[in-house]
Amino acid sequence: MTDPENVADAAGVAEPKNVAETAAESGNAADPVKRPKIRIIAKPAVTPDAPADSMWELIGGRDTFEKLVREFYVGVATDEVLLPMYPEQPDLEGAIQRLTGFLEQYWGGPNTYSQERGHPRLRMRHMPFKVNPDARDRWLHHMRNALDTLELPPLYDAEIWAYLDRAAHAMVNTFED
Ligand code: HEM
Repeated sequence: MTDPENVADAAGVAEPKNVAETAAESGNAADPVKRPKIRIIAKPAVTPDAPADSMWELIGGRDTFEKLVREFYVGVATDEVLLPMYPEQPDLEGAIQRLTGFLEQYWGGPNTYSQERGHPRLRMRHMPFKVNPDARDRWLHHMRNALDTLELPPLYDAEIWAYLDRAAHAMVNTFED
């Protein structure tokens, strides 16, 4: 029988009552342990059919990621070390689309990047380029400026920045000048 006070029960998500609890409630002397009756009165915030919002959704989806990457490439276009690395430069549109797609996918948006490009394998894809600490720091400098333009809530900004910083450090493939 469903307990009408128990919202979780009514929603079909509560644990079945255990035997001891039922015995305690009915005063069954066979179970000497008096246990408090536990009621789950709030519906859990996260259920399997309603996943938590992704960062992608929280910060504004495609438009926000594309703005980030376009701002980033405004900086790259002025960079005497980074710009020459881009095979299609001065046309950066392809690079903009690839980085936007990758970041969208990473943060919970559509997986168009992998559909079009396969597994990211980012370290491998960066091997043809000389990613030394100077290139990394330049990349991070332009990305920091770009992220600032979004004016995200500080916790979201910090989470995204921590990832980008870590990823850029992982991309270094040479210490030669
Ligand atoms: C650390 C300094 C970095 C440098 C100098 C660098 C440079 C480059 C260059 C020259 C390309 C080729 C442009 C193109 O055709 O798309 C590229 C591609 C790409 N980079 Fe980076 N990158 C760096 C870090 C990162 C980081 C940290 C990420 C991810 C968070 C990233 C994600 C990508 C992606 C997704 C592509 C396109 C890969 C593909 O599908 O072919 N890069 N990068």
